[in-house]
Amino acid sequence: MSRLIAIIMAAGQGTRMKSALPKVLHTACGRPLLYYPVRAGLDLGAEQVVVVVNGHIHAEVSAALGQHLPPERLTFAFQDAPRGTGDAVRAGLAGLTLADDDRVLILSGDTPLLTRTDLLPLTAALDAAVAMSFMYFCAPDPTGYGRVIRDATGMPIQIVEQRDLTTDAQRAIREVNAGVYLARAGALKNALLGLTNNNAQSEYYLTDIVSLIAAHARTSAVEADRDALSGVNDRGQLNEVERILQARVRRRWGERGVTVVGEPCIDDTVTLEPDVRIESGVRLRGRTHVGAGTTIDVGSVVDDGQIGKNATIKPYCVITQSQVGDKVALGPFAHLRPGSVLLDDAHVGNFVETKNARIGKGAKANHLAYVGDAEVGDGANLGAGTIICNYDGFAKRKTVIGPGAFIGSDSQLIAPVTVGAGAYVATGTTVTEDVPDGAVAIGRVRQSNKLGYAEPLRERLREQAQQEKVRQAGDQSSKPKSIGS
Ligand code: UD1
Ligand code: CA
Repeated sequence: MSRLIAIIMAAGQGTRMKSALPKVLHTACGRPLLYYPVRAGLDLGAEQVVVVVNGHIHAEVSAALGQHLPPERLTFAFQDAPRGTGDAVRAGLAGLTLADDDRVLILSGDTPLLTRTDLLPLTAALDAAVAMSFMYFCAPDPTGYGRVIRDATGMPIQIVEQRDLTTDAQRAIREVNAGVYLARAGALKNALLGLTNNNAQSEYYLTDIVSLIAAHARTSAVEADRDALSGVNDRGQLNEVERILQARVRRRWGERGVTVVGEPCIDDTVTLEPDVRIESGVRLRGRTHVGAGTTIDVGSVVDDGQIGKNATIKPYCVITQSQVGDKVALGPFAHLRPGSVLLDDAHVGNFVETKNARIGKGAKANHLAYVGDAEVGDGANLGAGTIICNYDGFAKRKTVIGPGAFIGSDSQLIAPVTVGAGAYVATGTTVTEDVPDGAVAIGRVRQSNKLGYAEPLRERLREQAQQEKVRQAGDQSSKPKSIGS
């Protein structure tokens, strides 16, 4: 079996994106656009994928792709000026040693909808008798595309670019080049040697390999699914591609036992287990994983979250770089900032914010709390309004709350401080010193009750208010009306 190598052309300028970011690094469904053709090449069985880029974006492109693909089968080649698609492929082949009957797949960096399935007919067409095959589609309006010219037998013999069309008959051709090619390495290399830039754009056109190869070997054109070839040239098309990829992801998880309600956005990088339920308005991003039986309710946003099994994420939670254990109940309106770890069965409720905090098994912080730089032991309970004062404006300090401890509502714990196992902090206490295991800490002003004082107090306050009104009225009337009267 001959080897398969893929070349991805991505050295064009992409000016219509109007962006500081290289076009192929704009993301769709959480992956850079360039990821998708590389993936399609690898899925088709390419043992190596060569991405042709402009040298000055190489570091950025390589770093971004490295987040999504194993680097072993990915290499880069450089084309420092966009001298045409033929020149790009020449650059891509430069570092490779290939046998004549090895196969070279050529794709563009900006067609993220194309998959292995779309490419299979192309590999089928490249049988022993054929030296190159390429994809075409029938365009109702062919303007802008290269037109496919065939001989009397129907074999494609030439592609003529829009700006090089000479006759009305050529202009009327609706079969257009899709820009996806598969060729024998020997035939391709020979043809590339024969390219000239003697055309309307003074570019080395890859499309000229068709006539160069057809002169002494067989070529074939395979009809492509037009939708699969939609390219991204501007932000409107980027949005459209995102929409299509998101729908694919939802369908994929639906086939794998996930209930998807409405149109939540699930990035391609996310993994889900069966019986997960994702409600509308949810956004799952990055390296998020959700365990079996977990529900993520309306409006929650999870970025790099590891969520266990049978957990309930109630509406409008925000989870970033955090872990949520099995059977945890979270939200509504909870905010897990980076480094939060909620162990199994923990309950973290509405308007609770955590950051760099470990919440023990079955521990609870159900209402209005801030838990930062803290360790909360198994089964501990943080009452409503518990605030961990972890920051003095200069340094962050740690708070440790032992297993089974009870922190009364509206308490503040001023870090660094430790509350021992099973200890009890009375409501409204400001904890400034460690609380030993099993101790009760109470730090608030003692209350005294004055029996029967309420009515006299009310009377006095009423009188004061009355006097104040009279004084104000006096101030108004004593103001002089006009000078000298
Ligand atoms: C190309 C085809 C055209 C086809 C169309 C389909 C040629 C000459 N024409 O035209 O027949 O109908 O695609 O979409 O190939 N690139 C480089 N280096 C360069 C020039 C381009 O790497 O010097 C890359 C671009 O980044 C892009 C791809 O090659 O990913 C295609 O280039 P583009 O300029 O979009 O080709 P078209 O003019 O659309
Ligand atoms: Ca062009």
